[in-house]
Amino acid sequence: MSAPPSTFRKIQAVEIGNNYRKVTQVVTVPYNSLTDDLKPNQVIVKNLYLGINASDVNYTNAKYVPGIKPPFDVGFESMGQIIQAGSLVPKEAVGSHVLVSQYGAYAEYMSVPYTSVIPVPGNKIEYMALRSSGLTSSIALEEMGRMTTGETVLVTAAAGGAGQIAVQLAKLAGNHVIGTCSSDDKVVMLKSLGCDRVINYKKEDFKTVLKKEYPKGVDIVFESVGGSFFTTCLNSLAVKGRLIVIGMVSTYSGASGMQGDKVDTLKLLGKSRTVAGFFVPDYLHLYPSHMQKLVKLFQEGKLKVEIDSAGLDGIEHVVDGVEYLHSGNNKGKVVIPLLPVNHSKI
Ligand SMILES: NC(=O)c1ccc[n+]([C@@H]2O[C@H](COP(=O)([O-])OP(=O)(O)OC[C@H]3O[C@@H](n4cnc5c(N)ncnc54)[C@H](OP(=O)(O)O)[C@@H]3O)[C@@H](O)[C@H]2O)c1
Repeated sequence: MSAPPSTFRKIQAVEIGNNYRKVTQVVTVPYNSLTDDLKPNQVIVKNLYLGINASDVNYTNAKYVPGIKPPFDVGFESMGQIIQAGSLVPKEAVGSHVLVSQYGAYAEYMSVPYTSVIPVPGNKIEYMALRSSGLTSSIALEEMGRMTTGETVLVTAAAGGAGQIAVQLAKLAGNHVIGTCSSDDKVVMLKSLGCDRVINYKKEDFKTVLKKEYPKGVDIVFESVGGSFFTTCLNSLAVKGRLIVIGMVSTYSGASGMQGDKVDTLKLLGKSRTVAGFFVPDYLHLYPSHMQKLVKLFQEGKLKVEIDSAGLDGIEHVVDGVEYLHSGNNKGKVVIPLLPVNHSKI
């Protein structure tokens, strides 16, 4: 491990808003701002990869912490290597690779409580997709979806960071899986992940396909898009169907920011349907078992992880990564490596 620098860079929101380029900036701070305040239970992580999330723009738009005042550090998740440990942390922790989830993760170095990091077996960029995207998919399908086997599972934004994992977990559990996406490239990707029916909603009418091909409705929906997608999914829910509200990405960049959808309870009552909200930090206690399952599936080659870095690396390109995700062009999890990498091998 090389010696720490005298300064490092991180990203801060300098005003409230969902235009990431306008409201954030890269700042340089002294490295000893981390070491001087290091608590006995904390470690310093040198970040290697930054995980881009659709909700990054909601955080800068004060939707997560209402009333938050700029400047504040941004980013939710990263993966890196522990380079220094506080006095209460086992010395063997130094050198290990960990997933970090903490506000302010868009930084080259950061301090975090040791108990909050999730160890991973090595330096593989794919692990970055198992934290927010993987845990959300795995826990939501099991807890809110009550997923078993032999049912029909619909995943919207199926070729994205979370969607790609949800598709595969539903398939591995022995379900019929439908996925939506916006391009032929993504159709190919989703078919290779085992999706039984892929709907490119730019070419086919989503509502018509569901009505015609799934007249009894779908049993579980992993719904990330919101707006008209949410309505179509709700109307297509089978008797005793479960619709999990994962997000509403189609609204995040709009003038009003993140917007929810209204639910007509009559549509639930007559068919014993459920609409359930899901927010992964509410299921912290389930992280270890689900992470263990995801890492094992990945190591055994049963879970494929698509990473999309858009050919970018370096903290100054996080903003491009956020814009790339919201352009709708990403295939898989958007991850920005902090050190130059061979992009052809990602
Ligand atoms: N509840 C939780 O705890 C939790 C945790 C993590 C993530 N999430 C949610 O999971 C969803 C996916 O997040 P992610 O970070 O993995 O992002 P992502 O799926 O990798 O990227 C967003 C994708 O959404 C699709 N999309 C559909 N309509 C869109 C629109 N109008 N504008 C832009 N994109 C649109 C695009 O693909 P196509 O158009 O091709 O489908 C795009 O590639 C988001 O709703 C996010 O908020 C929730």
